[in-house]
Amino acid sequence: MTDLSKAFLEHLGQTSPHPLALDIVHAEDCYLTDRNGKRYLDLVAGLAVNNTGHRHPSVVAAIKDQCDRYLHVIPYGEFIQEPQVRYAERLTALLPDGLDSVYFVNSGTEAIEGALKLAKRITGRTELIACLKSYHGSTHGSLSITGNESKKFRSRPLLPDVNFIQFNGPDQFNLITERTAAVVIEPIQGDAGVRVPAHNWLKALRGRCNEVGALLIFDEVQTGFGRTGKRFAMEHSGVVPDILVLGKALGGGLPMGAFVSSHEHMHLLTHDPVLGHITTFGGHPLPCVAGLAALNVLEAEHLMDNAERMGVLFKELLIHPAIKEVRGLGLMLAVELEDQDKVQKVVLDCLDHGVLGFWFLSCPTAFRIAPPLTINSAEVRSACHFILKALDR
Ligand SMILES: Cc1ncc(COP(=O)(O)O)c(C=O)c1O
Repeated sequence: MTDLSKAFLEHLGQTSPHPLALDIVHAEDCYLTDRNGKRYLDLVAGLAVNNTGHRHPSVVAAIKDQCDRYLHVIPYGEFIQEPQVRYAERLTALLPDGLDSVYFVNSGTEAIEGALKLAKRITGRTELIACLKSYHGSTHGSLSITGNESKKFRSRPLLPDVNFIQFNGPDQFNLITERTAAVVIEPIQGDAGVRVPAHNWLKALRGRCNEVGALLIFDEVQTGFGRTGKRFAMEHSGVVPDILVLGKALGGGLPMGAFVSSHEHMHLLTHDPVLGHITTFGGHPLPCVAGLAALNVLEAEHLMDNAERMGVLFKELLIHPAIKEVRGLGLMLAVELEDQDKVQKVVLDCLDHGVLGFWFLSCPTAFRIAPPLTINSAEVRSACHFILKALDR
């Protein structure tokens, strides 16, 4: 064990007894390099973050340029900071009407917290409805609406007045009533093992929310920014939420989250009480310029089309008796195997051979494929070769 790995285990708070503990010293496009010079083809992308590849030159240039101007100057909301304004302007120009005001925070979970507070404020109601097997974050509010009891029970009591429905399930819409402030869902569930709902189900959900005056919140933290082959996953169904939650790829590789709503609704956070939601670092100029540069790369390099094509190629190539299903859209894929043990072995065997895959929080029988959207067909073929070999072994 090196000094560094010893210190890693002794002095850093850990999240599991078995961290992968790769010691990465360099990252570029779809590859990570460890201290021993071993290269890994990255099928995780920092967990759906590095959509434009690691260290895209345009993103790095934007960060360096902003470093020469200013870093943190004031808590969010007080000064006009051009990077925030330009990014919000660009994002809202791409979003449907009614999603025209962006509130920047620091992470996905924090964006969920903001969205929940805003929904309660808009409706004057308290009940929240979410989906079983959902993942929305690890802070108290987002954990409360996460549909995985094994991750929650140690933190109770959590938020009261939270109920769950089955994602894409048989009709439970009668649980959504005049008491419901908001229904929060991932338009494609990520950590449930990539579950794509029927478009009609999402449309019916929107209809039910309208009927009873409940808000619809889409958590696109994982699905946003081209991951599923469209800019946002909501475009697959055409269903528009009242509040959109963003994170991960939003900051172009730097930490950032955001919730987006109508200007009228967002304005409620400014009064009664004043400073209804505040953050010191939210909208920091570095993730703003990095995110905007990454968004420009996404468009200029047609990465959404590439995500769609490469996703299809993965599905074509990953044929093996041990693979039960390859689920998902674009480059948000789950490879379903017979059992948990096999998943464990395949992920670790691939790692030995320089291909980094990863697990899901709420689907132990599948592993994740979510590479940078810049991945090319030779890289997809190489990744599939090693996955199939690992399955043979
Ligand atoms: C759908 C979804 N929502 C929220 C979160 C929480 O984001 P963060 O880890 O940035 O707090 C995640 C993280 O994986 C996620 O996948």
